[in-house]
Amino acid sequence: MDAVLYDKVRAVEWREGGVRLLDQRVLPSTLRYEECATAREVAAAITAMVVRGAPAIGVTAAYGAVLAVTEAYRRVPTDWRAAARADLTVLRESRPTAVNLGWALDRMERVMEAVGAEPPVATLLTAARRLHDEDIAANRRMGALGAALLPPKARVLTHCNTGALATGGYGTALGVVRAAAAVGGISMVYADETRPWLQGARLTAWELVEEGLPVTVLADGAAAARLRSGDIAAVLVGADRIAANGDTANKIGTYGLAVSARHHGVPFYVVAPISTIDAATPDGRGIPIEERAESEVLCCQGVAHSPAGARAWNPVFDVTPAVLITALITERGVVQHPDTEGIARLLTSPIPA
Ligand code: MRU
Repeated sequence: MDAVLYDKVRAVEWREGGVRLLDQRVLPSTLRYEECATAREVAAAITAMVVRGAPAIGVTAAYGAVLAVTEAYRRVPTDWRAAARADLTVLRESRPTAVNLGWALDRMERVMEAVGAEPPVATLLTAARRLHDEDIAANRRMGALGAALLPPKARVLTHCNTGALATGGYGTALGVVRAAAAVGGISMVYADETRPWLQGARLTAWELVEEGLPVTVLADGAAAARLRSGDIAAVLVGADRIAANGDTANKIGTYGLAVSARHHGVPFYVVAPISTIDAATPDGRGIPIEERAESEVLCCQGVAHSPAGARAWNPVFDVTPAVLITALITERGVVQHPDTEGIARLLTSPIPA
């Protein structure tokens, strides 16, 4: 039997001395890969959205760190650490909101700093691969925990893309959909189109169609009306950064969805690995929100649809206050009504075997 999509397609892969990225800007019409041979190429690909989704960005940056050290040693063998650190800074700044990026680079930097005069390229590659594998394992675990919260044959609503493409593999919120589909079945996944990059209409819909799971794409503005219909069991979203009190940054539009879900009495679940929690940021006010070019809003697929002279505001993420979140689903467990105490307990809880 054919492997399912999430086992066949990897957003990011290490390939003989480089990183291979599935170019998510052109999916689903074109299946094209971009090969990055240097850390700076990796950073540019992250900024340009070739790869996107917080956990996938973290995994990509980890492989980018391997390239940074390899090149640094080739260029400046006597002071390779300083040269590598400069590239790590470029990687770190490639996108500001997803904390998984800095988390992955901190982890790689600890490996880089721990050893002697020779660059630890093989050890770094092993560390990057472990980080990648751990992300997939975390997604599987979250999938099982999240599926247990859904009724059989649920109809769910999701935003952006949180699947195999946004992660090391399998997915966070979409991982819960996959796990639920395997256990009690899923009647329908309503996927917000997610303007302006259309991660829902292009990427989530593609992942689900390829696996034979039912999907209905909604214009973002249709989500509230769908929630009012009363047949949605839950809203499932991912996260780019979760503050210590549970306030959650995710794709722009998530906040409005959370307000609407609360108004209509629909459970609102955030599904994210521990690496997305930023314990150093007390609440959502401290989360940096990326703003991208106005042209992303004023044009669609390169074609301008607003008159010349119109301005656009293009924040890429918004912050959902913790009070609107029914539960946070992580690989270490589920936190109902997340707040500072609940998240602190989660972070000190033992890692399940
Ligand atoms: O701008 P993007 O496409 O990188 O934004 C992605 C999201 O907002 C996702 O919901 C989030 O990273 C969680 S992915 C598992």
